[in-house]
Amino acid sequence: MKRLEQMYEGKAKILYHTDDPDLAIQYFKDDASAFNGIKKGSIVDKGIVNNHISSAIFKFLEANGAPTHFVDRPSDREMVVKKLEIIPIEVVLRNVVAGSLAKRTGLPEGQELKQPILEFYYKSDPLGDPMINEYHIAEFGWATDDEVALLKSQGFKINELMVEFFKKRGIRLVDFKLEFGRHKGEVLLGDEISPDGCRLWDWETGEKMDKDRFRFNLGNVEEKYQEVYQLICGDPG
Ligand code: TMP
Repeated sequence: MKRLEQMYEGKAKILYHTDDPDLAIQYFKDDASAFNGIKKGSIVDKGIVNNHISSAIFKFLEANGAPTHFVDRPSDREMVVKKLEIIPIEVVLRNVVAGSLAKRTGLPEGQELKQPILEFYYKSDPLGDPMINEYHIAEFGWATDDEVALLKSQGFKINELMVEFFKKRGIRLVDFKLEFGRHKGEVLLGDEISPDGCRLWDWETGEKMDKDRFRFNLGNVEEKYQEVYQLICGDPG
């Protein structure tokens, strides 16, 4: 597999063409951003940690019937993925009140939800990813009705799988964001699943182990990312 010219550079990753027209390479950077790019910085070895964590989670999801774009992890910072036509919708799943849900409702952070909540956001940096609903998606043609049904069913299924996955490792999955895309007529989970796009709290202490540490200058950012990495990918012995 040969890495060819760059397709796209995002805030945390670079996407490259390869010599296989169906496959791309995601290169994971250490760059970090928050509040729609207003806060910028870097987290040492974040790219390596996020690539390993994402790869482990994608493999787990694939094995449990949730198709993803993951193909291989040939190096610390590279992931081979199926090329996707990205659906411009971010699917957020929530199990506990936090972040923008706490702000929007005035409810206290940490309140357990009786059942998970699924939300849609329109993927647009200039607009700051506004919240949308199914009527917006249909009206503006961002996805078909069948695709929306799939985003919902896969979203809830992935949430159920991931809640258990993290719980077994002593982590509470508070909320997270998913992105999907089309590949040869199939809708696949894309992007990454890492502490950059999830809220992860220590099950015992409630300590934050995710990008909120960077967003709100809580300190020990690298240490907590490494801890998540060890809990997911480390030698259990
Ligand atoms: P929020 O509380 O800020 O709406 O975020 C909910 C979860 O989704 C949180 O784990 C962060 C993640 N997320 C992203 O990673 N990127 C995004 O653009 C959005 C809207 C959420």
